[in-house]
This record gives sequence, structure tokens and C-alpha cells, in this order.
Amino acid sequence: MPPSSALNAQELQPTSCVDAVVPSSRTIRAVEAVAASEISQLVAVLGHGVIDDPDRPVLCADDLGLTRGDGCFDATRVVTDTDGTSRIDHLETHLDRFARSAAGLEIPFHSEAWRSLVADAAAAWTRPGEAVLRVMLTRGREATPGDPVTGLLTIAPIHESALAGRAGISVTTLDRGHAADMFTEVSWLLGGIKTLSYAINVAAGREARRRGVDDALFVSSDGFALEGPRASLLWRFGDRLATTPIDGTGILASITQAVVFEHAAAEGVSVSYELITVDDLTGSDGAWLLSSGRLVAPILQLDDVQLASDPAFTERVWGWATGHS
Ligand SMILES: Cc1ncc(COP(=O)(O)O)c(C=O)c1O
Repeated sequence: MPPSSALNAQELQPTSCVDAVVPSSRTIRAVEAVAASEISQLVAVLGHGVIDDPDRPVLCADDLGLTRGDGCFDATRVVTDTDGTSRIDHLETHLDRFARSAAGLEIPFHSEAWRSLVADAAAAWTRPGEAVLRVMLTRGREATPGDPVTGLLTIAPIHESALAGRAGISVTTLDRGHAADMFTEVSWLLGGIKTLSYAINVAAGREARRRGVDDALFVSSDGFALEGPRASLLWRFGDRLATTPIDGTGILASITQAVVFEHAAAEGVSVSYELITVDDLTGSDGAWLLSSGRLVAPILQLDDVQLASDPAFTERVWGWATGHS
């Protein structure tokens, strides 16, 4: 990996508003000097490196990511050992999806600069335990869109509610208001792209809590289960696993689900992509919400129906998701 000082491609400078806030010589911080075990969040900026104070403002008020949600992000888990060494789950796959999201939005993406920034950030993050790496890219400032783009990343400890969800969750269905095939050949709707415009997904979480449950499951207007606001759906009938197809539904291609399918298939378990109605889902032999931070959350209750629970099978799904089957 090139050092952060090699990031300064002409097109990445100046980046965001860091320059306006602090002289750049103070913003790039030597990795050795970061006492990351003491901080609760790490912030790094594309073209600058790790920021010495994670509370320092790094965005301009007219950034299009802020004013329009015009950008994309990706997120994955970071696991840090007690000696402070961090490893990032499926980094290349997440960076590939991040690049695809950027391409879908027609925002320039500099793979090597991102790789370098992530490497610097991971080296600086030494707080033991599980954390979440979030990479964010916006079209830049409204005054000069796309020139340069804004790129940020954060690393912060995983939320307690995510850890709790691994033991089991209650879920409410929420009507997503469109048919299951609405995204077929309508690329400008940005189906499957992890945009920064997540207000609906966050609102779904609030609605779930208002209804007294842990999470939500989006359902199409024609009655098919789609995905969670921040997770994919997996279900089981006997020795057969299935998930929602990506084509036409506009759902995100979940990396956790892909990893689970890969390991399950290697063990001879049948895996498939199909649409399922909520009624049929409640008759399954088990259902889970999968995502990169929480990983595997068994759905114990869906609306008013108690779902079949099989801790031994959940243990297998966990093993597939973490590559420890
Ligand atoms: C809408 C949506 N679907 C599915 C997922 C699960 O994707 P992954 O397993 O790659 O985290 C996420 C999480 O990022 C999401 O936001």
C-alpha cells in the first residue's frame, strides 16, 4: 500500500472543507501518532489522511452529499485484536460495490486512493473489539460539483443494538409502495445503489421502534418480501436457503448474503434467488436478516406471527457469514 502522502493526485486536492478549517500540514497525521485506542471514532478524508481530531468539521455547508444526499456509501465490519491489529471483513468486495455505486451515480472514483486511505485508517484504529468502517463519497460542492469529489471515512465501535440483534429480533413488515419488479430497466431510479439518500431506511427503523419491535422488512405492493432497511433477507425451507433476487426489485446486493450462499453451497446446501410472499415466509423453517455489521439476526417474530426458530441452524448461518463454518 502506498503511504498517505502518495494520495495527493491533482484531482483530489483540495478535498472537502478540511483545508478551510485547518492548515493541511496539521490535518495529515502520522499513523504512529494516533492514539486511536483512546478515541471513540476515527475520521479520515480522501486526499488528506486520518484527521487528528475526529470532532473537527470536514464538510462545507454546500456539499451535495449534505444538501441533496447526492453520493454513496458502503460499510463493513472491522475486528481489532487486543494487540491493536485490525482486519476488515471483505474489504475488496465492499470497495468494488462502492465503486459500482459511484459509477451508477456518475461520480469519479479513485480506487487506489481509497485503498490507501482505508489502510491508513485501519492501521490507526487500535481499539479492541468490533467496529464499523463506513466510506462515503459525494459529488462535492454545489458551487463546483464533481471538482473535487468529497470522500470521507469513519471507524466507530459497533452499536450495542446490533450486537443484541444477533440473539434474535422482532420485525414489522412495511409496505415499500412499489411492485416487486418496478426497477426492471429503469436505471435512473438507482435500484441496488447504496446512495446516501437513506432517510426512508432510517424512517423505517423509527417506525419499527414506534411499533415496539426491533426492525422492519420492506414488502412490495404486490405482497413480496424484499429486504430490511439495512439488511438482506434469508429464509430456509428444509435444507434449501433462498433470498430475494436483485434484478428488478431494486434491492441491494448484500455481501453478507453472498458470503453465506458461497459457504452454504460449498457444503452442499441448495441456494436460490426467488420471490416469497409474507404468508409463505411465515411458514418457513427460519428467516434471518443479514448485514455486514450485525451479520446474522434470526427473525423470531414477523408482525403477529412467531417464526420457526432453530438455534443450531442459526449457528451454521453464523459460521458461513463469518467464514468459520
Ligand atoms: C438496504 C440494504 N440492504 C441490504 C444490506 C445488507 O448488505 P451487506 O450484507 O452488504 O451489509 C444493507 C446493508 O448495508 C442495506 O442497507
